[in-house]
Amino acid sequence: MKLLKNWDNKTWLSSEEYILSFTSFIKTKTKLNKNLKILDIGCGRANIISFLHKKFQFISKPVGIDIIKSKNIKKNIIFYKSDAIKYLKNTNELFDLILVKQVIHFFSKKQIESLLNLAKNKLNKDGQILIFSLKTKNNKIPCFKIMKSKLLKSLKKDEDILKVIKNNLKDYKINNFSFKVDLSTYKYVQMIKNRYISCLLNMSDKELKKGINEIKSIYKDQIKFTDTLNCISFKK
Ligand SMILES: C[S@@+](CC[C@H](N)C(=O)[O-])C[C@H]1O[C@@H](n2cnc3c(N)ncnc32)[C@H](O)[C@@H]1O
Repeated sequence: MKLLKNWDNKTWLSSEEYILSFTSFIKTKTKLNKNLKILDIGCGRANIISFLHKKFQFISKPVGIDIIKSKNIKKNIIFYKSDAIKYLKNTNELFDLILVKQVIHFFSKKQIESLLNLAKNKLNKDGQILIFSLKTKNNKIPCFKIMKSKLLKSLKKDEDILKVIKNNLKDYKINNFSFKVDLSTYKYVQMIKNRYISCLLNMSDKELKKGINEIKSIYKDQIKFTDTLNCISFKK
């Protein structure tokens, strides 16, 4: 499996506005306070938990795990380079909040079952799991033709994944988190060149080059759209 390396590297997903807006959303789901112990599964560069820790000064440092150790991971958190299932099987720690943001599509249905069962067992009393994934219907991510067809295929798979999650969690709530993106076409082209999203990982260089020209011809200088995620929240 090819690995995602540039998801949160200088993109709107690592911007202060995005993280502030995401934090405000989390606040509507859970009471953030210094006593919370947080685990971020597939944390990338740990931008989110690092920001939360700066803001709330948690007594226990948040833990982030990722299968990749990126170069500039935030320093004020505890990071483990590990597969999520392996980590959950081996840790003795319990958490109040487990974040699984835009990661679940990397796992098979069987792996999702075991990931969720393990995560539920690693929750403190009243602990919570928040799972975020791309909105599957009418998604607005700017795409070129082949990218769109690959994204639609992957979103179709996400719909099956959502069913598996809902069956497993049984008692859950579902909401949307939306963020208005406004970035230059130049910056978005850089993100595409860096294969920022899973549906670009297996594309040939030739397809990518053609796609970039398509993007440049569709959008002038600026790209505006709404990035929407589904959020499934589960409380123990
Ligand atoms: C789309 S990025 C999301 C990063 C971060 N959660 C965010 O929203 O900014 C997906 C992340 O999941 C990680 N990942 C993929 N498979 C994983 C696994 N089996 N165990 C742990 N992390 C994994 C990738 O390395 C990548 O950093």
